[in-house]
Amino acid sequence: MKPAILVARAIFPEVLERLSQTFEVTANQDDRVYTPAELTEKMRGKVGALTTGSERIDAALLAACPNLKVVANMAVGYNNFDVPAMTAAGVLATNTPDVLTETTADFGFALLMATARRVTESEHYLRAGHWTRWSYDMFAGAEVHGSTLGIIGMGRIGQGIARRAARGFDMQVLYHNRSPLPVAQEVECGARYAGKEALLRAADHVMLVVPYSAETHHTIGAAEIAMMKPTATLVNIARGGIVDDAALAQALKSRRIAAAGLDVFEGEPSVHPDLLTVPNVVLTPHIASATIATRLKMANLAADNLVDYLVHGRTRTPLNQVSR
Ligand code: GLV
Repeated sequence: MKPAILVARAIFPEVLERLSQTFEVTANQDDRVYTPAELTEKMRGKVGALTTGSERIDAALLAACPNLKVVANMAVGYNNFDVPAMTAAGVLATNTPDVLTETTADFGFALLMATARRVTESEHYLRAGHWTRWSYDMFAGAEVHGSTLGIIGMGRIGQGIARRAARGFDMQVLYHNRSPLPVAQEVECGARYAGKEALLRAADHVMLVVPYSAETHHTIGAAEIAMMKPTATLVNIARGGIVDDAALAQALKSRRIAAAGLDVFEGEPSVHPDLLTVPNVVLTPHIASATIATRLKMANLAADNLVDYLVHGRTRTPLNQVSR
């Protein structure tokens, strides 16, 4: 009898097929997002599960699923996991680091460019039939090359963005992180450590790439926005909740800062209604890692984590240590 696993959301058919060779798979190719009660019901009796950021793994679910040994998140972020509760329950937690780093850094840069250069705002204007003539200041935005970029959160993706900024766009790069990088790494990615306030005051563009936790909740709120230049842009590719979206919408409305680019939202897929009505924000639906090649790598890595642990007793990209 093959071990039973749940694949909680739709994934690439070829990855599902690969998993089916080893496991008895309960799939969800209709891609309905389960309620917590449905997820618990589906996970009951399973030894493993492949999840995405939409599925919360907490103590209540773990208590109802005593057979569970491993949950593999198809994401690098894992704020949907209560890792201490998983460790206490002896459940291995895994994520998908590295395979999405460069793709996500590309997208951070895409969103920065679109925001600073008003790409979507001007496209909406054109599509609406408002464009009748060229004019000297039409959709004039902020310079990206040669400007100062402030990166908050300097993990692998933050460093990828820094390299693009310093090497490709001749930007001064400041970063803020829980702890500074070793000097050699700073030199390699062309970035200099700064306190959070100093960074916010100096940056022409601020990019958020910090993982979500209770400590990073509302890293950017009204007080932080008040420190930014009135011409500044803010880009969030990290997680909803890192920015106080209500405060940001207000700041965009009053032009306290020039513009924002957001790929993630508090309470997503809901978006703060005021963000939908202000013109100076670029909004994308959490797609920073979304290229076919990268999403396939993420799905395969999540699948590898299940096979490695459940079949071979090995861990590949673990987030905790448990005894089998
Ligand atoms: C996406 O947001 C991820 O964490 O991989």
